[in-house]
Amino acid sequence: MTQKLPDKIPTLRVVPLPADTNAYGDIFGGWLLSQMDLAGASEATSLAKCRVVTVGVDSMNFHQPVFVGDEVSFYTEIVRTGRSSIAVHVQSWARARAEAINNSRMVTEGVFTFVAIDENRKPVEIAQ
Ligand SMILES: CC(C)(COP(=O)(O)OP(=O)(O)OC[C@H]1O[C@@H](n2cnc3c(N)ncnc32)[C@H](O)[C@@H]1OP(=O)(O)O)[C@@H](O)C(=O)NCCC(=O)NCCS
Repeated sequence: MTQKLPDKIPTLRVVPLPADTNAYGDIFGGWLLSQMDLAGASEATSLAKCRVVTVGVDSMNFHQPVFVGDEVSFYTEIVRTGRSSIAVHVQSWARARAEAINNSRMVTEGVFTFVAIDENRKPVEIAQ
């Protein structure tokens, strides 16, 4: 996967606040995971056009720390589809508030798998 800032609009862009820190004052990994899950679900829902649930998280990597006030952008790309499942690669890039966007650093990446479900919570086929 690319180490270059993706040349597209991020699926989600968020600024973490002091409430999102761990005991040492850096941004909590669980906060980053939940934002990645939200971004991935948004991408998967666009394809499935119905409710999706997260079924698995693979190859999760935290490359660099994130700090309070950084602007964090989440970029998503569908990497695999099955009958009902959609795997989405999610990459997050952070920049200090006063930095130019080109000085963003890649901070996390992972692959999240979602399953399209019906009103009875049963997997449904994705219309391709
Ligand atoms: C997602 C869920 C409906 C799947 O039900 P299931 O009975 O396991 O369904 P299946 O075995 O038919 O699998 C459905 C698809 O999920 C895939 N899948 C199941 N477990 C998986 C895993 N751990 N990782 C990746 N894919 C997985 C299967 O390969 C299958 O893909 P395909 O249809 O593209 O071939 C069920 O496991 C569930 O409700 N889980 C809880 C989801 C949840 O609450 N998430 C957190 C909040 S969003």
